[in-house]
Amino acid sequence: MMQMEKLVSLCKRRGYMFQSSEIYGGLNGFWDYGPLGVELKRNVKDAWWRDMVSGHDELTQLPGAPSEYEMTGLDCTIIMHPQVWKCSGHYDLFHDFMVDCRQTRKRYRHDQVRGRWVEAKGQKIFVTTMVEADSEDEDVQRRALKFFKLRSKDLEDLKWDGSFIRLTEVTDFSQVLAPDANELGTLTEPREFNLMFKTYVGALSGEEGTAFLRPETAQGIFVNFKNVVDSSRVKIPFGIAQVGKSFRNEITPRNFTFRSREFEQMEIEFFCHPNSSSAWYKFWRDRRMAWYIALGLSPERLILREHAQDELSHYSTGTADIEYAFPFLPEGEYGELEGIAHRGDFDLRSHMEGKLDEKTNPLQVQLGPDGKPKYRGSGKDLTYRDELTNERFIPHVIEPSAGADRATLAFLCEAYHEDQAPDENGQMQSRVVLRLHPRIAPVKAAVFPLVKKDGMPEVAKDIYRALKKKFNVFYDEKGAVGRRYRRQDEAGTPYCITVDGESLNDKCVTIRDRDTLEQVRVKIDDVVSEIETRVSR
Ligand code: GAP
Repeated sequence: MMQMEKLVSLCKRRGYMFQSSEIYGGLNGFWDYGPLGVELKRNVKDAWWRDMVSGHDELTQLPGAPSEYEMTGLDCTIIMHPQVWKCSGHYDLFHDFMVDCRQTRKRYRHDQVRGRWVEAKGQKIFVTTMVEADSEDEDVQRRALKFFKLRSKDLEDLKWDGSFIRLTEVTDFSQVLAPDANELGTLTEPREFNLMFKTYVGALSGEEGTAFLRPETAQGIFVNFKNVVDSSRVKIPFGIAQVGKSFRNEITPRNFTFRSREFEQMEIEFFCHPNSSSAWYKFWRDRRMAWYIALGLSPERLILREHAQDELSHYSTGTADIEYAFPFLPEGEYGELEGIAHRGDFDLRSHMEGKLDEKTNPLQVQLGPDGKPKYRGSGKDLTYRDELTNERFIPHVIEPSAGADRATLAFLCEAYHEDQAPDENGQMQSRVVLRLHPRIAPVKAAVFPLVKKDGMPEVAKDIYRALKKKFNVFYDEKGAVGRRYRRQDEAGTPYCITVDGESLNDKCVTIRDRDTLEQVRVKIDDVVSEIETRVSR
């Protein structure tokens, strides 16, 4: 089994993640988090909130930051006024290109279809596939043999031209064998597909009642910018953070939770003076990269990639992606964990412009070809006045936008290891271990009595209760202690605490470290502080 398959199987077996509505066959692009998964994802979100927002020291200038800054938070609704999406640009511009197969009626995202040119029996065709990178070769070979009515032993009759490329690089679809078709030329030309989910608000079912599920949490922050400035004492530069669900009707959700239709984002909109926005952009790129490394992702599997000019979103003048070498991607390819975008004044300006005209607007309104403001914004004044200098301006925005599900998946991929550990008889046995950083591990410690007698369970239960007041811990007295260790290794529990026969005399227990397998004797009275120190390292 490939590493990704093993991880997916472990996630199901140990209750990290399940397919949504599984008993009804599941729903593509939707995932549920099980008992361990919910703790892991919650810990990822809590670590983010603590490190970026509630634990942020406003009185100290952080290394690389142009100055001190403030941070605050918001929790906005998923359904907002439809005009928000018109002004944000999502209504007109938030789409992917899709291709439909006329034979199978299946739909694919244009840039996700990959394939190879192959020639046999005097005909050259482009065989496509949608399977995971590690099975692509096999799938394309099988389909090419089938198309040319060749047998496996005739593999050498297939003349391959070049390596895998994306369908976006193919201009004529007449010789393309679609991913699930058996005839050529069944794919339609690429067409735009808006990714926002539509719904209806109230009893109105027509266009009047149409609303959208938010495709990003960011817009809730922009439309509340003035409320936050007026109701709190924040001064620029400051950031507003939000964690919450977002929805995108992805054409081909895939790669486990990586591309889902319902997912969670952890976003910061950081408001600053236009003169310092480039320096803040650099600061946030580096700060966010360091965060993933501090929580356990290896720098060798992470890259910071600046977007090329033609790749930028409609709102951005500069974006860098933090990308991770997920094991389901082809060798050398990376998947986006987080985007850090320089959004300029695009959003506040769009939500502001509309009712203002050039005479009443203190700032220059961008007019469309019809002479009217480009978007019909709220008409509210969303400018900011610096109290010291009296300068009035539209702040620039730097946006570090992370996916909670993608971060959780990356931490799981990084943590998965197979190695050897001694059992209770000192024999080396293979084990699966999730080396999750103790801060995000779902269960921080497991407490075991060595055997279920001689007063050991009572002592172990007392330790469990003392720890439980501070952390999520687990008590287990069933089966051989070696098997109990293995179960915790697989669940990613960093510490196992064992009460043995000696504990009743010396008032000490053994703490075993999941990664180093080191076992140390610690006084029972010190167990809580010991675990506390280790978890907050
Ligand atoms: N407000 C900016 C914004 O939404 P984005 O790059 O479209 O930017 C930010 O999304 C992050 O949200 C991504 O880096 C990714 O981690 C996460 N994300 C986006 N689409 C996703 C999907 N379909 N499934 C899971 N996570 C997704």
